[in-house]
Amino acid sequence: MAKTMLAAQYSKYHGGPSALEYVEVPVPTPKEGDILVKVEASSVNIVDWRIQDGLLKHILPRKFPHIPGTDISGEVVSVGPGVVGFTPGDKIISWIDLLRGGGFAEFALAPVTSTVKRPPTITAVEAASLPVAAMTALQCAINLVGLKLDGSGPKLNILITAASGGVGIFWTQIAKMAGCFVTATCGVRNMELIRSLGADEILDYKTPDGARYRSPTGKKYDVVVHLAPYQPLEAFKAQLTKQGKVIDMTPTLKTVLRNWYNKITLSKQSFLPFVLDAGNTTFLQMVTDLVEEGKLKVIVDSTFPLTKARDAWARSIEGHSTGKIVLVM
Ligand SMILES: NC(=O)c1ccc[n+]([C@@H]2O[C@H](COP(=O)([O-])OP(=O)(O)OC[C@H]3O[C@@H](n4cnc5c(N)ncnc54)[C@H](OP(=O)(O)O)[C@@H]3O)[C@@H](O)[C@H]2O)c1
Repeated sequence: MAKTMLAAQYSKYHGGPSALEYVEVPVPTPKEGDILVKVEASSVNIVDWRIQDGLLKHILPRKFPHIPGTDISGEVVSVGPGVVGFTPGDKIISWIDLLRGGGFAEFALAPVTSTVKRPPTITAVEAASLPVAAMTALQCAINLVGLKLDGSGPKLNILITAASGGVGIFWTQIAKMAGCFVTATCGVRNMELIRSLGADEILDYKTPDGARYRSPTGKKYDVVVHLAPYQPLEAFKAQLTKQGKVIDMTPTLKTVLRNWYNKITLSKQSFLPFVLDAGNTTFLQMVTDLVEEGKLKVIVDSTFPLTKARDAWARSIEGHSTGKIVLVM
């Protein structure tokens, strides 16, 4: 068993891709509730580089240097005290909490509380694409919008902005699975893909109608899942039903204030923040099952070796990926 491993880490806020350093560090030792994983793949999420940029400066990272990466797939090497249900050799998918990170490395500690087994039909790259992006889409769809995957829930008119991104590709498929009428925004180059994932109408976000979110068939939206860069509620108002909801998937203080304002003024339209709660295996197991059953497709934008983590980081910062960006160890 190796004593040291290659990792990509940063040692201060800001600095972008070039501040990621390739280092040889000790392989971590699993403590209570930890699984030591030989990482096979690790995906990049926007929040990873936003944290490097100081988004959660008061709490994250707790200390430098910090190895980013929360979404991993790999093989169990050993388990810490108190871990049951996993043995060396098991293939797993895990979400590591943001406080800890550590996925951009050859080995990582995965909390047993957010780790599931990876079925052999799901590749390591597909598996690492799931935790944050697919769980966000599914949890938001079920817990906030009230959709039911078997189609027995509300059949809403839903607009999904940036449907071609890491989260949007899953949201589009889930909304369709639930029987909704899906309007999606994306760039021209991704229209066919998004249609193949189930969108009923597609808007090129660079056209005037796309920029105004106007449904080609004049539909008003019950729900807008807003994954593209921030827009105030007013940008959607004309296209919303009277009781329509805009879900801000990148919530800021503005979203929270707008939500309060709407409540105070008894507005029937609402602007709701959503933040993933990924601390258990419920949603990770559900998305894994959906992929295994062939109901949810994973779209991979690009893969990079760990030694090119800077390029993967840069690709995510550019904001033009189609699906997920994944590091392969
Ligand atoms: N709330 C949560 O818990 C949670 C969890 C995960 C992610 N998020 C947030 O969700 C948002 C989306 O994340 P992501 O990982 O899916 O992003 P992403 O993968 O970086 O999205 C990239 C895609 O967005 C498209 N795009 C960019 N600007 C657009 C616009 N104005 N209209 C339509 N499409 C546009 C790009 O298309 P082109 O290349 O054609 O421009 C590209 O395909 C981020 O803000 C992220 O922070 C929130």
